[in-house]
Amino acid sequence: MKIAIVSGSSSGVGQSTAVQVARRGNGVILTYHGNQAGALETVAMIEKDGGAAVALPLDVGNTAAFPPFREAVAAALRDRWQRDTFDFLVNAFERFPEVIPGLAAKTALGRLGEPDDIGMFIAALLSEECRWITAQDIEVSGGYNL
Ligand SMILES: NC(=O)c1ccc[n+]([C@@H]2O[C@H](COP(=O)([O-])OP(=O)(O)OC[C@H]3O[C@@H](n4cnc5c(N)ncnc54)[C@H](OP(=O)(O)O)[C@@H]3O)[C@@H](O)[C@H]2O)c1
Repeated sequence: MKIAIVSGSSSGVGQSTAVQVARRGNGVILTYHGNQAGALETVAMIEKDGGAAVALPLDVGNTAAFPPFREAVAAALRDRWQRDTFDFLVNAFERFPEVIPGLAAKTALGRLGEPDDIGMFIAALLSEECRWITAQDIEVSGGYNL
């Protein structure tokens, strides 16, 4: 089993990514900021599918929180999976919500991306079939600006 850390998994793209990544047999350490209930919902969705997940709080805007987060990740890896390393890091926390409204009109497919449009792609990217893809910047945008 491989382990992925997926940040911002209490809703939206991160939640879909965590669920899709777990559905392919990976363990997931997922993070939330304020929405603990959403993160626990994500854990429940994963466990309902037979997967394994741990939810940890993380504020990426507070660097003082990074050392305790690192300790919490180490504890989760040790206690849940009896290991001390993880395999994948997926950052899905929100950064630019103000740019969203104008995107659909500029997209060839004529709509905004749904969480599963991104989550399923990321899960596929972490699979064995994509193991030789590394250090790439891949646009997943429904044909933005074609
Ligand atoms: N290209 C497209 O078509 C498209 C469409 C949709 C979204 N997006 C992009 O995808 C990204 C995610 O969007 P989304 O719809 O999934 O957003 P969302 O549902 O609002 O999820 C945002 C996540 O980020 C977390 N977060 C917010 N502030 C944080 C902080 N300071 N530290 C750590 N985590 C934090 C939230 O945690 P809490 O809720 O627990 O606080 C939540 O889990 C955004 O950058 C958005 O612009 C692109």
